[in-house]
Amino acid sequence: MTTSTLLLSIGTRPEAVKLAPLVHALRMRPWARVRVLATAQHREMLDQILDFFEIEADVDLDLMRANQGLADLTSRMITAVDEVLGEEQPDFVLAQGDTTTVMVTGLCCYYRKIPMGHVEAGLRTGNKFFPFPEEMNRGLVGRMADLHFAPTEVSADNLRGEGIAESAIKVTGNTVIDALEWAQRKTDSDVFASTEGRRLILVTAHRRENFGEPFEEVCRGLLGLADRGDVDLLYPVHPNPNVRELVQARLGSHPHIRLIDPLDYPQFVAAMEASYLILTDSGGVQEEAPSLGKPILVLRDETERPEGVTAGTAKLVGPHADRILAEATRLLEDERAYAAMAQAQNPYGDGQASERICDELETWLGQRGG
Ligand code: UD1
Ligand code: UDP
Repeated sequence: MTTSTLLLSIGTRPEAVKLAPLVHALRMRPWARVRVLATAQHREMLDQILDFFEIEADVDLDLMRANQGLADLTSRMITAVDEVLGEEQPDFVLAQGDTTTVMVTGLCCYYRKIPMGHVEAGLRTGNKFFPFPEEMNRGLVGRMADLHFAPTEVSADNLRGEGIAESAIKVTGNTVIDALEWAQRKTDSDVFASTEGRRLILVTAHRRENFGEPFEEVCRGLLGLADRGDVDLLYPVHPNPNVRELVQARLGSHPHIRLIDPLDYPQFVAAMEASYLILTDSGGVQEEAPSLGKPILVLRDETERPEGVTAGTAKLVGPHADRILAEATRLLEDERAYAAMAQAQNPYGDGQASERICDELETWLGQRGG
C-alpha cells in the first residue's frame, strides 16, 4: 500500500480530547502520513489538551479572538483552512464533533473535492436551535462527509434516516473513552477530596443557548444546592466571557462554591473520579461520566446523547433551578436512587474506537488505491 496523507483538523478542547487517541493510533499505521491542523478556535484550552497528549500541531492558524462571534470566526476560518488544504494536499481529512471547526473543515474539503471523514457522526436532537449552533453544524457536515464514524447504533440510525448510504456509516464507539482510559492511568483522584465530610459536586456549563436567563437559573440552582452546607461545589469555569462574568458575579463569594480555571485533562478526570455527582451541559462529560460510575444531571432540556438517559446514568434537569435542586437533593438523600444512576457501564464506547477508525480508513483508502 502506498502512503496516504491524512490531515486531522482540530479547533477546540473537546475535539483535541477526542482526536488525540486517533492521532496516536494513526501514527502507528505504516501507510499513514499524519498531519495535524490546529485552527485554534480555542487557544489555552486547546494547548492544555494537546500538551497532555504530546501532540504538536504541524500547522497552527491561531484563530481565536476574545468573545468571537460565529460569523466572524467562520469567515476567517474558511479562508485560512482553504489555504492549508491547498498547501498540504491531503488525501483524506478528518474532523470531529459539532464545532465551527468541523463545519468549516467539511465545507472547505467539499469545495476542493477532498474526501473527508466525520468522527462522532450522527448525533441529533432534531431541534435546529438546541444545541446552538452545534445541531446545525452536525447536520451540515453530515451532508458533506464521505465517511461517517458513528459512536453508537442510535447515531448510525439517525444517519440512515437522513439517507446516508449504509456503506459510508461505520459504528466505532466514541474515541472519548479511548482518551479517558489514557488519562485515567495518569490521575490522582485524592487531589480533589472534599473537606470535613462534605460531598463533592462537580459542575461545568458553557452552552451558547444557555447564555443569559437560563444561566441565571443554573446559578440559582447551584446556590440553593451550596446553601445545604453539606456539599462542596467545584466549578472549572469556561473562559468564554459570557459564562465567566456571570458565574463570577453570582457564585464567586459562596463559601461552598469553588470557581477555578479550566483543569488540564488528567486533573479534570481526577475531579470527576472524586465527585459524588456531576452537573453539566457538556457533551464530552456526559459521555465520560458513566465509565466512572458517576450520575450526571444534564443542564439542558434536550440532548443529542440519549444513550446515557436510556441507560439510566444521566437525567435531563434543564437550566431550571427547581429541578436542579430537587434532583440533586434526591441523589444526595436517597441511596437507592443514587445507586440506580451510579452504574459503571458506558453506552458510548469501549476504548477501541480509534483502532476501528484506523481499520476502516485503511480499507477505504485501500479500496480507492490510496
Ligand atoms: C466552542 C464550540 C462548542 C463546544 C465548546 C467546547 C462552536 C461555535 N462552539 O464553544 O460547540 O462545545 O467550544 O468548549 O464551535 N476562550 C478563551 N480561551 C480558550 C477558549 C475560549 O478565552 O481557550 C473564550 C474566547 O473569548 C472565545 C470564547 O471563549 O472567543 C468563545 O470561544 P468559541 O470557540 O467561539 O465558543 P465556545 O463557547 O468555547
Ligand atoms: N474538560 C477538561 N477540563 C475541564 C473541563 C472539561 O479537560 O476543566 C474535558 C472533559 O473531560 C471533556 C471535554 O473537556 O473531555 C469537554 O469539553 P467541553 O465541555 O468544553 O465541550 P463539549 O464536550 O460540551 O463540546
